[in-house]
Order: sequence, then C-alpha cells, then structure tokens
Amino acid sequence: MKSYFNYINVMKERLGDEGISLEDIESMEDITEISYSRTMERYERGELGFMEVIYNDVKQYRLSDRYRDFKYILVIGMGGSILGTQMVYEGVKGIYANELNSKKVFFLDNSDPELLHSILNIVDLRETLVFVVSKSGNTVETLANFFILRERMKEVGCKGDNVVIISSGGMLKEIGEREGYKMFEIPENVVGRFSVLSSVGLVPLSCMDVDIDKLVSGARDMDKLCRREDVFKNPALMNALIHYIFLNRGRSVSVIMPYIERLYRFDMWYRQLWAESLGKDGKGQTPVAALGAKDQHSQLQLYLDGPKDKIVTFIKVRRFNGDFTIRYKGHYLDGHSLSQLINFQQLGTERALTSRGVPNVSIVLKELDEYSLGKLIYMYEMTTAFMGEMLGVNAFDQPAVEEGKRITRELLEGKGNGEEVVEDYIIEI
Ligand code: PA5
Repeated sequence: MKSYFNYINVMKERLGDEGISLEDIESMEDITEISYSRTMERYERGELGFMEVIYNDVKQYRLSDRYRDFKYILVIGMGGSILGTQMVYEGVKGIYANELNSKKVFFLDNSDPELLHSILNIVDLRETLVFVVSKSGNTVETLANFFILRERMKEVGCKGDNVVIISSGGMLKEIGEREGYKMFEIPENVVGRFSVLSSVGLVPLSCMDVDIDKLVSGARDMDKLCRREDVFKNPALMNALIHYIFLNRGRSVSVIMPYIERLYRFDMWYRQLWAESLGKDGKGQTPVAALGAKDQHSQLQLYLDGPKDKIVTFIKVRRFNGDFTIRYKGHYLDGHSLSQLINFQQLGTERALTSRGVPNVSIVLKELDEYSLGKLIYMYEMTTAFMGEMLGVNAFDQPAVEEGKRITRELLEGKGNGEEVVEDYIIEI
C-alpha cells in the first residue's frame, strides 16, 4: 500500500475536452522552471523560513516535564498562529479528543466574548497551561483575550508560570520579557500561515502528546520530493501547475474535500494558506472547504451541475483508526465495512465529477498519522509557494488585511464614527 498524488482526472483521457494532455504539461516547461527556480532562489536568500525550520533539532521545542502535568491547555492566537496547531491536534487526536483524553485542549481564536466565556466555564485556570502565540505580538484579538485572561489568572492566584509566549516582537514580547514568562522566538523569515512546523505549532503540540518527531520527519521526506526539478516527479510542483492551468481556464474555485472527519481542520488551514497567500493584485483562486461523504448531501449538486468554475482535490485514507462491518442480510450493504462505504462514496463522487468534466485530483494516504500529516502539510506549503511564483504574486505577505485592522484600532481609540444606520436603507427583521 502506498501513498500518492493522483492527477489522472485532469487529463484528456478521462476528462475529455475539458482535460489537458501530457503535451500541455510539457509545454508549460517555462512556467514550471521559473516557479521552481525562483522558489529555490528565495530559499537560498533565506526568505523561506518554513523550508529551513523543518531541519531544526526538535528538542528545542520540548518544554520540561513540569509543563506536562497541566490538566488543560489553552492556545490563544489568530490565523497562522493557531490554525495549524489546531489542524494537527485534531488531525492526530480526532474530533472528540477532549471527551476521550484526560488532558483537555482549547483553542481561542476569536474576539467573540461567548467563546472565551464558554472556555472559562470549563477550565480551572490554576490547572491550565496557556500558550499565547503571535508573531507580530500586536494582534488585537490575541492581546485582548490574553489581557482578560491575565487578570483572571491573577485573581485566582496564578503566578505566571503557566504561561508560555511564542512571539517575535511587539507588545507580547515586551510583556513576556518584562514579566518573565517562558518564551519562544518565531524566526523572522517564517510567515504566519507557513509556521505550523516552527515553534508556533511544535511547542504546544509537543505538550499535547503529538509526536512532533514523526510530524517533522514526514515534512523532511516530502521536502526531498519537492526539491525535484522534474514536474512529473514533484507532487507539489505538479499540483501547483494543474491549479494554475485550470485557473487560467476559468476554474477560479478550488474545493478541498477530505473523506475523513479528522481532516476537517486541515480544510480550514488550507483555506487560509491558499487565500491569504495567493489572493493578490486581482489574482488568486477561492478555496472552498468541503467534507466527504457528508457534503455529497449538501454541496455536490453545485459541484456537478453548477458553474464550471471548480477544481476539486480529494483526500482519502486507506486505513482508519477503527472500523465496523455492516450486517443486514439481503441488503447490498451487508458484509461491507464502513471504511469501504466512505471510500466507495469518494470514488463515486470522483467518477461523477470526472464524467461531468470537473477536473479533480486526489491525495491517497495509507493512513492518517503524524508522519503522513507532516507530508501533507509540507506538500501544501510548497504547492502554495510554487503557485505564488506561477501567478507572479508574493505568497508571503498580506498587505490588504492591514486596512481593516487600522480602522478597528482607530475606532478603539475613539477616532471616526461607529456603526451608522441610514433609515432609507434598512428593513426591519
Ligand atoms: O498568515 C499570517 O501571516 C496571518 O494569518 C497571521 O498569522 C495572523 O494575522 C496572526 O498574526 P500574528 O501571528 O502576528 O498574531
């Protein structure tokens, strides 16, 4: 049983007129070569820290045993500072990990007061290890949640030895240094959404009993494949090229559809990676998160019969962490396992899409564990880097999101008007 990236369903032989040929791929040699060489040049210049950190000694990310005894773990952060950690935690431990394990893990990534309220109703702060993660150290939601928690912790007698700050600057680093919190740096050249395999993800994950050695070793093995110049041997370069070709043919939506619940957070992580990295200068491809088999009953009609603007990526696993045989004499389900059912459903969807001319690729994993997840994460980081070069955008900045942050800050500082309701343009509901 092997793991592989399968792109047969974008080829003419399966997709007919909507498809591409080997000659089409070969004729894009210029694009792939430029994308590959520019990415490697940026790496050589030290701009792509995400490619460097996977070779760090993982020992540096492990906290001493003292930090392992906490009953609760709370991670505070936004976007790239938290989504990857949550994706790996749920991808490895499953969606009911808190119900099953004695250690309970929570993620606080919104300024919604109800979220913090609910978490505070569950955890005892004296027994909670708190990670505050922000590269800039100035992200408003992260600071607000931390400031509130800091006061609460003082009230219940916490001395601050349950707080770990992961940051490379700003207010957060300043507070950390002044108040003597345990701290980890984020390398300057590691961008938020590419940072899960740096201190950002690995420090908290190692406290959540995730095998970070295996995670990183999967990424290192994928790095070897992504260093191949030949697009036919490099899964990330081929994936980027396929998405680039189909984007240019009007496929402006990229749907990602794993057929395993544990990868639902992977969807969320991918959504940010693809959107924030590539959505620039009027370019980009809109990522859409889906989950098989349930979204066959929710989204599939649109994918099959709606606008021809989508390219779909399936992710499926061969072996699940538990399985069941279905028994009902005389019924066609009798004797089949649930894992067979979900994988046949994936195949059915794949074939239906292909017959309708919807390009689709699949990633097939032997199983979903730290090692394969490390591979998958790194493959997508490299795919995004290559795609950025193909599109001619800088995948590693996010200038447009600054505007909204500036307005929020001005409002908090009492400058500018708050919500304005123009009676002519509202309808009461
Ligand atoms: O990918 C990114 O750069 C962003 O999503 C950031 O991770 C996010 O805005 C949080 O920023 P920070 O880590 O500075 O708090």
